[in-house]
Amino acid sequence: MLNGWEPIGIPIHPKGSQTHLSCNLQSASESYAKGLGPPCTGFHASKFRNARVFLIEGLSLCVLERSRMSIKRPWELSSEEITPKSTYLNRRQILRAMGLGGVALVGGRALSHLAFPPAAVQAGTKLNVTVKSPFSTTEKQSTFEDVTHYNNFYEFGTDKSDPAKNSGKFRTAPWTVSIEGEVKKPMKLSMDDILKVAPLEERIYRHRCVERWSIVVPWIGYSFSALAKLVEPTEKAKYVAFTTFYDPAQMPQAKYGGIDFPYVEGLRLDEAMNPLALLCVGMYGESLPNQDGAPVRMIIPWKYGYKSIKSLIKIQFVKDEPPTTWNRYSAQEYGFYSNVNPEVEHPRWSQATERRLGEIFARKTLMFNGYSDQVATLYNGMDLKKFH
Ligand code: MTE
Repeated sequence: MLNGWEPIGIPIHPKGSQTHLSCNLQSASESYAKGLGPPCTGFHASKFRNARVFLIEGLSLCVLERSRMSIKRPWELSSEEITPKSTYLNRRQILRAMGLGGVALVGGRALSHLAFPPAAVQAGTKLNVTVKSPFSTTEKQSTFEDVTHYNNFYEFGTDKSDPAKNSGKFRTAPWTVSIEGEVKKPMKLSMDDILKVAPLEERIYRHRCVERWSIVVPWIGYSFSALAKLVEPTEKAKYVAFTTFYDPAQMPQAKYGGIDFPYVEGLRLDEAMNPLALLCVGMYGESLPNQDGAPVRMIIPWKYGYKSIKSLIKIQFVKDEPPTTWNRYSAQEYGFYSNVNPEVEHPRWSQATERRLGEIFARKTLMFNGYSDQVATLYNGMDLKKFH
């Protein structure tokens, strides 16, 4: 950190283009020489609020920095402030880069990754996927590395790179999920049981965070409804409440998260029974890495990512709308429904556009994240601004 500024990333042309880079560097150095900022226009850096570009002399390193003085929770950063994982080096990596001279930038991303291998990912167990889902998108999939190194999992820290760094020793076996509440057949299921409830499907879904970044991931699992049918919800069940495992000893970073733990989420019963709601046990052909919510999580692709609760241990069928973590934190900002909706502004930023990790230009946000055909009828007659 330099005088209250901390590095947040390195703008690199997607193809590692030298020309583009040197033009950035030139404008950066000239601007710095004149004491102006933010100096770099090539990567829209002028749009970065509370950010500036810093040139490390002799290393050909052009670093975006964020002011610590007005630091926001990563959650609250606008997408302009968020550097995609694919162009990201953290402070330690930059220091290492200093030791390695200009290598990191010469070849752009590829070389930086040779020099600094990403934090360890749990060795995934190969899963026997027998069904290709008709719900899958044909859009380009995000890279495994982006999906495993740009995460929100506050139990393991608030920085996007924290979950990969801090969840390595998280014990996910043995694992039991308790399914209880308004059901005729409450049960506790081991992971072995869960894997046998229904044939495993690959579902390639768009996954959209309220922070306005998005990814496309080949998740593995089956419709949550298959599990629900097993326990036979009673007439009284109107909602489903989900709870994440919480152990402060294994998750010491959670105490800095600023939210209450365990992390809790909820869905209306008909939302949970919609075939798109996925009980997810894997991705990219294997079991889930810890940082992505091992060993079992929900994926609700038409809602903001925070509804897709990770590392589930309890599922309760309940009569009343259950509390949810981010709604508790700030009800005005994070509604219970949290459907992706370009027309409902978040109080502090627009949701009209989003940026896919690995891409530079923003794209338009799609209503229900592009899943209107499957889910719009769930909300017939509802004021989606009121019930945001
Ligand atoms: N689940 C738990 N238990 N803890 C969390 O912090 N973060 C949520 C959601 N599920 C979170 C969680 C948020 S904000 C998002 S955007 C997604 O997980 C991110 O999922 P990903 O890291 O697999 O992309």
